[in-house]
Amino acid sequence: MKNDEWLTPPEILRPLGPFDLDPCAPILRPWPTAAKHFTVLDDGLAQPWAGRVWLNPPFGREAVKWLRRMAEHGNGIALIPARTETNMFFESVWGSADAVLFLKGRPHFHYVDGQRAAFNSGAPICLVAYGHSNAETLAATGLGHVVPARSPATNFLKDAA
Ligand SMILES: C[S@@+](CC[C@H](N)C(=O)[O-])C[C@H]1O[C@@H](n2cnc3c(N)ncnc32)[C@H](O)[C@@H]1O
Repeated sequence: MKNDEWLTPPEILRPLGPFDLDPCAPILRPWPTAAKHFTVLDDGLAQPWAGRVWLNPPFGREAVKWLRRMAEHGNGIALIPARTETNMFFESVWGSADAVLFLKGRPHFHYVDGQRAAFNSGAPICLVAYGHSNAETLAATGLGHVVPARSPATNFLKDAA
């Protein structure tokens, strides 16, 4: 999956409900992902973000900037590889987000013409909720297993003592 134009499968987006903004959407898209879209022509990172955001960021090093912006924004859901040990995860997910849903199975992303790829993501994928109501939405989807991202582990240790 060497370029950025890999679209979120509708079966993942649908149960998450409507979004106000997708700040990184393809120029030509087979379906809307939010009420408002920014594309590479707008540079979504340079624009103001408002409302409930859907974020499936450009891949690679670029993703760090987008997820940082999402954590600052604090309202929405992001789709990222479940690389839970990385600096990006520790900077913008653990301790910053409200919940993480680890997807059951590996999704097949779509091409910009809407066609589903024959192969899967090749890596585990997770959904990250920013804001309490988005965490509740994740928990209700049944798409995978949800864990809190801010819960103090010490509560568990205290209970066990
Ligand atoms: C992984 S795809 C996700 C597409 C869509 N948001 C979705 O969930 O199906 C990332 C998208 O970000 C777009 N993109 C890359 N750089 C961007 C930028 N600076 N501003 C806005 N969009 C950008 C790419 O063109 C690509 O369509």
